[in-house]
Amino acid sequence: EVIEAAGQVLLPGFVDLHTHLREPGREDTETIESGSAAGALGGYTAVFAMANTSPVADSVVITDHVWRRGQEVGLVDVHPVGAVTVGLEGKQLAEMATMASGIGKVKMFSDDGHCVYDPLIMRRALEYSSALGVLIAQHAEEPRLTVGAVAHEGPTAARLGLAGWPRAAEESIVARDALLARDAGARVHICHASTAGTVELMKWARGQGISITAEVTPHHLLLDDSRLETYDAVNRVNPPLREQSDIAALRQGLADGVIDCVATDHAPHAEQDKCCEFSAARPGMLGLETALAIVAQTMVETGLLDWRGVARVMSERPAEIVGLSDQGRPIAVGEPANLTLVDPDREWTVRAPELASIAQNSPFDAMTFGARVTTTLLRGRVTVGDGQVRP
Ligand code: NCD
Ligand code: ZN
Ligand code: ZN
Ligand code: ZN
Repeated sequence: EVIEAAGQVLLPGFVDLHTHLREPGREDTETIESGSAAGALGGYTAVFAMANTSPVADSVVITDHVWRRGQEVGLVDVHPVGAVTVGLEGKQLAEMATMASGIGKVKMFSDDGHCVYDPLIMRRALEYSSALGVLIAQHAEEPRLTVGAVAHEGPTAARLGLAGWPRAAEESIVARDALLARDAGARVHICHASTAGTVELMKWARGQGISITAEVTPHHLLLDDSRLETYDAVNRVNPPLREQSDIAALRQGLADGVIDCVATDHAPHAEQDKCCEFSAARPGMLGLETALAIVAQTMVETGLLDWRGVARVMSERPAEIVGLSDQGRPIAVGEPANLTLVDPDREWTVRAPELASIAQNSPFDAMTFGARVTTTLLRGRVTVGDGQVRP
């Protein structure tokens, strides 16, 4: 097969530390098969499937299913994320060792969707995780600081009367868990960093020698709270869209390496859960198929990152954080061919119904971007060519 690559950028296959694939439980919104197609189209060769499925991925039965089904589909490696606790809001640590030693070899645990709320549970999870050599990823929302059911804050949300998830809800958990990681001699990873204050806390913690890493989503790099003006629930997400000053701090933090990587927080929801009143809608948005285009627009076109930097934040650094040995490697002789080709001058317009995800609502619908993934290879096999999935 001839792959046409003139004028394109060759990158190591992308690694997403934060994907919701909804299997088991909500296969009407995404399955491992549809989500794998979305991942491959987005240039990903590995995704980490979050644990807030139904039932929750708090046992090896579920985590092994996720890994096996991903291998059967064969488009991306779907690494299961195990729940930290039994049930997402549980008081009891899940059997992390069993999940870590299963077929799915769970490398990361998270209660994403719910904060690991109890500081003693978090401390024990961190201690246990460093003994097991796995990572704890924290959703970072102090629920007692989240006012009301609608998780938005900012000038537009305030004017429209949408109750908030204040910055302090995120930042107090980032600070708490940095200190807990220090005391436990463990590593912690912060999911979907969304505020300028979180970037400052990351700088402080790194300065103290604390082993803490963080990710930022494409939507928090691009969209601000003014999007809420229309009350359109496609913009409802956890953590909420914030302000231009937060966006600037997150972009700079990613450029400087204070924020380690981009993770999509791809969170598909059914039309009926997104078309209702804003406050009743489920939080979350699609991310896999648009991530590279948004990173190109917000980081490359602005001069904050070169393509070498894109390789770092989309592939190498996330693989390193989670200890993946066969992905996210610099392109070198003898490495498995997990590769992504990007056309940096390909203008395209997002059509949400045409995305591979089953869920079809997206805040990026009808937006035009200037760069696009054309080709993805997983261990040498073309999973996407000419922007089409190769089953
Ligand atoms: C996520 C979901 O829908 O599962 N929603 C979201 O708004 N990000 C959960 C999460 O990542 O917190
Ligand atoms: Zn979350
Ligand atoms: Zn999430
Ligand atoms: Zn709709």
